Amino acid sequence: MKIKNICCIGAGYVGGPTMAVIAQKCPHINVTVVDINEDRIAAWNDENLDNLPVFEPGLDSIVKEARGRNLFFSTEVDKAIDNSEIIFISVNTPTKTYGKGKGMAADLKYIELCARQIARVSKQDKIVVEKSTLPVRTAAAIKSILNNTGHHVHFEILSNPEFLAEGTAVNDLLMPDRVLIGGESTPKGKEALKALTDIYANWVPREKILTTNVWSSELSKLTANAFLAQRVSSINAMSEICEKTGADINEVAKAIGMDSRIGPKFLKASVGFGGSCFQKDILNLVYIAKSYGLDEVADYWEQVILINEHQKQRFSDLIVSTLYNTVSGKKITFLGWAFKKDTNDTRESAAIKVADSLLSEQAKISVYDPKVVAKQIYSDLDYLKTRSSEENRNLLQVHKDPYEACNQSHSVAILTEWDEFVSYDWQRIYDNMQKPAFVFDGRGILNKTELERIGFVYYKIGSGA
Ligand code: NAD
Ligand code: UGA
Repeated sequence: MKIKNICCIGAGYVGGPTMAVIAQKCPHINVTVVDINEDRIAAWNDENLDNLPVFEPGLDSIVKEARGRNLFFSTEVDKAIDNSEIIFISVNTPTKTYGKGKGMAADLKYIELCARQIARVSKQDKIVVEKSTLPVRTAAAIKSILNNTGHHVHFEILSNPEFLAEGTAVNDLLMPDRVLIGGESTPKGKEALKALTDIYANWVPREKILTTNVWSSELSKLTANAFLAQRVSSINAMSEICEKTGADINEVAKAIGMDSRIGPKFLKASVGFGGSCFQKDILNLVYIAKSYGLDEVADYWEQVILINEHQKQRFSDLIVSTLYNTVSGKKITFLGWAFKKDTNDTRESAAIKVADSLLSEQAKISVYDPKVVAKQIYSDLDYLKTRSSEENRNLLQVHKDPYEACNQSHSVAILTEWDEFVSYDWQRIYDNMQKPAFVFDGRGILNKTELERIGFVYYKIGSGA
């Protein structure tokens, strides 16, 4: 099958960067990314590359190279579907907020809408690719919709989950550990698997392109995220033991990471994992396990979330108890709001919960984040509905200058591991703070000896020394 046109429904954190890289690496294929969100599409088309809706190191130059050549962003969803031989579905699959499975199951309404739209529009055979993260066996539902509502064209469904991490999306896409494609072993299924494999083979070594059956592929994505999140919760659970015993979590992580069976990556203790996916995907996994009556399996994975909630709560508790059991009226500076460095994404960021907790204690918070804008920070807090948006704006200020954010502060808390925080003039920050000046390092990135020499009272997640 000769592929000339592909489209991707959903121009978000996954759809945008993924398709930009495919377009860059496959100049012979037209790639159209469509979305119903007009503002998002306008931002992808913005002349000024600083205004792209997703910030990822290296993404701007790829968009610059391919946009208008064979990469297009559009709101004309029907047209793009009709024109394409392959359609990626990369829409959001958030946790359900209503009805059965509320707070746990994945909300598949956007996926179903896409399937119905593809069925309505398509007049020729198509390959439909699940790029979004989905509960295992979703392909069966998509297939049923496509086969029962379409114009009797043939649809082949592939699962091709995305493993990129934000902040490193471009590198992850250019040099993936693996590309996973699940498909059926029928002749048409094999043909579809080959067509998608051939696209990736333009830049990914073939031995890194793994093909499986559809269910293994769907479940592998949830499994990978569950294992990664479990590592973070495991190291965070150990960080609390370190604080009680005088051990240091960085030293423990290094010691265990040198065991090649454990490996050194993803062992950084933190104020808790965030991001749009770990929590939602584990909740989804827990829901799936429960729906098969696998209660012990469900409880096992749920613990990963419970430890994460605990980690965020105990960080704000530590700040309150250290500041003499009251933060009422005290200024606390947050350095960082994004859920990790090198991204402007704040979804499920630990900073949101920690701020909410401290605001409930009547603290006054000043925030500085190199990439997150004030509007986003207020919208994150308003979404919780803990207090009115007016109160949120009164109690929390957002600054464009980190030194200003720290001015006259009682304490600085590091919520995101942005590199620039390490190289700040900490003496200058100290001189302009209330005394004693406290630093709560929720990411373990600052130099304890240096800060203590300046005069700070320094606390680091996972260090009892
Ligand atoms: P996102 O919210 O950034 O983007 C989704 C986009 O889909 C939105 O712009 C929305 O307007 C659009 N959309 C929704 N319904 C639509 C429809 N019917 N027609 C056209 N457009 C529609 O989400 P995301 O972060 O890109 O995640 C997408 C999927 O990829 C999710 O399933 C997620 O779990 C998965 N995933 C995300 C990441 C990540 O790092 N963010 C990594 C791997 C996998
Ligand atoms: C994660 C996975 O790493 C990707 O493979 C996956 O595709 C993606 O989820 C997804 O499905 O959305 P992402 O959430 O973008 O990617 O970022 P991570 O680097 O995994 O970090 C997640 C959270 O864990 C961040 O808050 C980070 O600070 C935290 N973390 C990570 C730690 O606290 N310690 C670590 O050692 C690693």
